[in-house]
Amino acid sequence: MKINVNTLFKMAAEGQKITMLTCYDTSFATLLDDAGVEILLVGDSLGMVIQGEDSTLPVTMEQMEYHTRCVARGVKNALVLSDMPFGSYQESPQQAFANAARLMQAGAHMVKVEGGAFMAETTRFLVERGIPVCSHIGLTPQFVNSFGGYRVQGKSENDAERILHDASALAEAGASLVLMECVPAALAKRVSDSIAVPTIGIGAGVDVSGQVLVLHDILGVYPGRKARFVKNFMAGADSIQAAVAGYVTAVKARSFPAEEHCF
Ligand code: KIV
Ligand code: NA
Repeated sequence: MKINVNTLFKMAAEGQKITMLTCYDTSFATLLDDAGVEILLVGDSLGMVIQGEDSTLPVTMEQMEYHTRCVARGVKNALVLSDMPFGSYQESPQQAFANAARLMQAGAHMVKVEGGAFMAETTRFLVERGIPVCSHIGLTPQFVNSFGGYRVQGKSENDAERILHDASALAEAGASLVLMECVPAALAKRVSDSIAVPTIGIGAGVDVSGQVLVLHDILGVYPGRKARFVKNFMAGADSIQAAVAGYVTAVKARSFPAEEHCF
């Protein structure tokens, strides 16, 4: 069955966990699609896992279009979600629309935009013009230079309140998904309880509508430092297909993430 925004809302309403993995090429797109992964994220994490850069900032629109095309060709049922790369949407809603349209024409069904309440206007501008938006809040990796590193967000009550406000402003603006990265599990639950939009977590605990991880992390092939929220599903699996099936099963059964993966 083809996954669309309505499917995601229905799954969240029924308490069926949504599975998402990053994907950058056509072979993995087919493999993940066959495994029933609902959303394939063409993430700008490709800057790290594909290109060997040390952040997502160098990734360009041309590269995102290229990988979106590669993934879209391999997909039958999954929803293709593409990251808006650094510098492609921050200037104005108009700039965001022009670049988001390029990703949609390359085969994306939704685009992901980093940033909180200040991105609400741009979010509404895209949504009103036929481009579904996934909002990315909490640890937003394109802000690594402002954050001074990759660290958990929303630990103080002040920061938690800001993240709650970000989520409600973006939901109000029409976001189809709100993705939270590296926030305390208790805060992610508060956010999920406070908005009608499905939530996706990475390092955000189990009380969200779905989970995402970087493909290379679940397969244990990324040589870089492993974040606390990562689990290598190749351990004990005898094939890549089995590892991906293990991830899907664990997310659906709420056995991933476990306590040890959470903040
Ligand atoms: O680019 C990416 O892989 C992401 C996920 C970490 C959510 O944005
Ligand atoms: Na990203």
